[in-house]
Amino acid sequence: MKILIAEDDFVSRLLVKKAVTEIGHEVIVAENGQQAWEAFLEHEPDMVISDWMMPEMDGLELCKKIRSASKKTYSYIMLLTAKDKTTDLVEVFEAGADDYIIKPFKPDELRSRIKSGERIAILESQHHELQENLSLKNRHLDEALRNLKATQVQAMQSEKMASIGQLAAGVAHEINNPIGFVGSNLEALSDYLKDYNRLLEHYQAMAANLDKAGTDNLATIVKTHLETIQTCEKDIEIAYIKDDIPDLLKDCIEGTSRVGKIVADLKNFAHPGNDKQMLMDINKGLESTLNVVANELKYKAIVTKTFGKIPLVEAWPQKLNQVFVNILINSAQAILEKGEIRIHTFAEGREVKIAISDTGSGISPENLSKIFDPFFTTKAVGKGTGLGMNIAYNIVKEHKGIIEVTSEVGKGTCFTITLPGK
Ligand SMILES: Nc1ncnc2c1ncn2[C@@H]1O[C@H](COP(=O)(O)OP(=O)(O)OP(=O)(O)O)[C@@H](O)[C@H]1O
Ligand SMILES: [Mg+2]
Repeated sequence: MKILIAEDDFVSRLLVKKAVTEIGHEVIVAENGQQAWEAFLEHEPDMVISDWMMPEMDGLELCKKIRSASKKTYSYIMLLTAKDKTTDLVEVFEAGADDYIIKPFKPDELRSRIKSGERIAILESQHHELQENLSLKNRHLDEALRNLKATQVQAMQSEKMASIGQLAAGVAHEINNPIGFVGSNLEALSDYLKDYNRLLEHYQAMAANLDKAGTDNLATIVKTHLETIQTCEKDIEIAYIKDDIPDLLKDCIEGTSRVGKIVADLKNFAHPGNDKQMLMDINKGLESTLNVVANELKYKAIVTKTFGKIPLVEAWPQKLNQVFVNILINSAQAILEKGEIRIHTFAEGREVKIAISDTGSGISPENLSKIFDPFFTTKAVGKGTGLGMNIAYNIVKEHKGIIEVTSEVGKGTCFTITLPGK
């Protein structure tokens, strides 16, 4: 052990030094408080035996300075003093000393106090080291946790982007379809207009001739024109055109309003950063989500909606819609050929329940407990990231709700979300 002795009195210094070296310790000697402080910083001793009354800096101050210094190991401090009143001794301990010895002392007593101090110094140092290790480990754990969270957020973001990309392709298809038939209807309508114009020209010619003829030969004029008019009507199939035009116009109006609706719904998904908490009509959210995912579902499933009267929900609508998308896409993916997806909303007291079930492949009992875990997927590499349900779980939790799942292999799966209503 390295022991620093701080003592201004020559004789005392020698006595202490002798007692310490006799039991085999390394000694550093200082003749006043300031010297002792400098020696402490330089040598970092395991024990300090210091006189109380010293020039430049007394033993108590030295004690306080040592205790406030940051040092890896513990330094045991013993004060030498001629004072022996209880109040004095209290001061010794309050300054941070571990022990004191009253002058004049017997070398034997000093030696045994050093020995017991040594044991304590070792224990304190071990304790100190343990705590350092622990806090280092804690710091590492904190950092690992922070990194993990950052990775998860990043992964969630990219998952969102990937599913938006996938949806965008579907939506493009959904928009293309009505645009296609609106276009061909307009072409047919423009052909019909030409036919109408041809017929109109015949009527106009008849009207002009009748006008010129005054009151004579009216019947002959009408007869001649009527023949041409009838031939033209037959030629252009006027009866068919008359019936077809309202149908074509109706389809055009429907098609454009469908595109308008899809674009409006898509806006919600295209700006996820703008999501604000508001009172949300869950039925409407499901409706617009269905418009966006329609293309993903239509080859796989017939969708049945049973929307009940439910309270509004305090929600981030785009986030909840993302949950519905993730569940619906999973359902479609679980259906091998053709199946059914049912969406049922209902109120239970003030709670809103949303049940989405499918007639897909189902989930085995051992997988059922894992599906909300991040990165759990049974899909091929590149097909699934295993984040869809984890994201759904977190979003529902953020809404103070719960998401539950029941499933039977070969029969299908049902997700039930419960949210607090307003
Ligand atoms: N409706 C369902 N029917 C059958 N299995 C399902 C259903 N929903 C989820 N699963 C199972 O849970 C797993 C995890 O689903 P999750 O949506 O989290 O990830 P994923 O669909 O595999 O990938 P991602 O959604 O990230 O593209 C799926 O791989 C699948 O095995
Ligand atoms: Mg999924």
